[in-house]
Amino acid sequence: MHYFVYHSGELYCEGVPVRKIVEKYGTPLYIYSGKTIRRHFKIFDSAFEEIPHLTCYSVKANSNLGVLSLLAKEGAGADVVSGGELERALRAGIPPKKIVFSGVGKTVEEIERALKVGILMFNVESAEELYVLGEVAQRLQIKAPFAIRANPDVDPKTHPYISTGLRKNKFGVPEEEVISLYLKAKENPYLQPIGLDTHIGSQLTTISPFIEAVRRLKALWKELEGLGFELSFLDIGGGLGIIYGEEEPPPPEEFSSAIIQELKGLPLTLILEPGRIIVGNAGILVTKVLYTKSNKEKNFVIVDAGMNDLIRPALYQAYHKIVPVLDRGEEEIVADIVGPICESGDFFAKERRIPKVKRGDLLAIMSAGAYGFVMSSNYNTRPRAAEVLVEDDQVFLVRRRETIEDLLRLEEIPEVYKI
Ligand code: LLP
Repeated sequence: MHYFVYHSGELYCEGVPVRKIVEKYGTPLYIYSGKTIRRHFKIFDSAFEEIPHLTCYSVKANSNLGVLSLLAKEGAGADVVSGGELERALRAGIPPKKIVFSGVGKTVEEIERALKVGILMFNVESAEELYVLGEVAQRLQIKAPFAIRANPDVDPKTHPYISTGLRKNKFGVPEEEVISLYLKAKENPYLQPIGLDTHIGSQLTTISPFIEAVRRLKALWKELEGLGFELSFLDIGGGLGIIYGEEEPPPPEEFSSAIIQELKGLPLTLILEPGRIIVGNAGILVTKVLYTKSNKEKNFVIVDAGMNDLIRPALYQAYHKIVPVLDRGEEEIVADIVGPICESGDFFAKERRIPKVKRGDLLAIMSAGAYGFVMSSNYNTRPRAAEVLVEDDQVFLVRRRETIEDLLRLEEIPEVYKI
């Protein structure tokens, strides 16, 4: 459920007509609904209220400071995967003790910063990383709380690019090597084992892979217990899918009761790292029709947003619903909706049935709140879109549109080439 709805044929975000927001901020424009984000966070978080847990919102899904501070106010923690995301989480007011740090390639500088601010734990993804973490911790004389991210070799049955828990994926430590890493960590008193972690993939629409992964983790947990490790946190990552089109993902309560069923009675705090389910359907990308054209085979609708603004269709053949901002009840046509970028992969939809549009019309690309703006680029020297956050009838600009000057500012022409 979200708060992008039609009133008398006009698309609104909460209490504001999308057309009005666009009049002020232009297109392409990301619009987020604060009420939707809050609703999703509350539903997800409270689904686990029966057991001790911490919901660490996965910052990579949408890292805008406005969005993060909204979530911080709701009590969310953060799952970060870079020094940049860590700074964002801190800037938004998320307490360090609610931050976990994942990712296969943490640098020494990133580790140092995270140790100094005192994050909750590092989700370690290799033997070498564990060694480096211990070294940095010892040098700084700060104990490093960590979990090993196990790769349980579970098939999440999702798009291959967003599957992470298979042996062939680069993530985590093979299940059979996990125990020996904990034992190895005993050699360095600055390494503090406090948890066990996994994340198997994204946009999962069935519960069984999660359960399989949790069972594997439980077995590892018991084995570690037997060896005298006293862990407190079991982190099962993120990954619960959302509805873009026809998917039927399990609702959070169904997901949580299945997980709780597995973990009941175990003295642990569950950590969850949801991203998409919190923000995915809380954001849209609004774009303007620049031109329409047809040939013998096809109709094309050329819009002012491109794959640089939203890369999911190009990268994962992802489906995003596309609707007119003003529904004039036009007859439908079948068209490719494409961007201005010089690549055939620059499309939002192929052979899509949509109401007939003309130059200047506005279209809303739905479910663009997760992995939308955060994956945008400046390809073709296109300034990135503005982002606004709506709360009832208030509209906050949470990132201004980039200018061409912004893009050129960091570059320099070598003196010898100047004319
Ligand atoms: N935790 C870890 C360690 C992750 O790598 C991810 C996502 C999450 C949590 C959050 O997963 P979520 O709840 O959002 O599914 N760009 C792709 C998705 C990549 C996901 C990467 N990792 C897309 O647009 O579909």
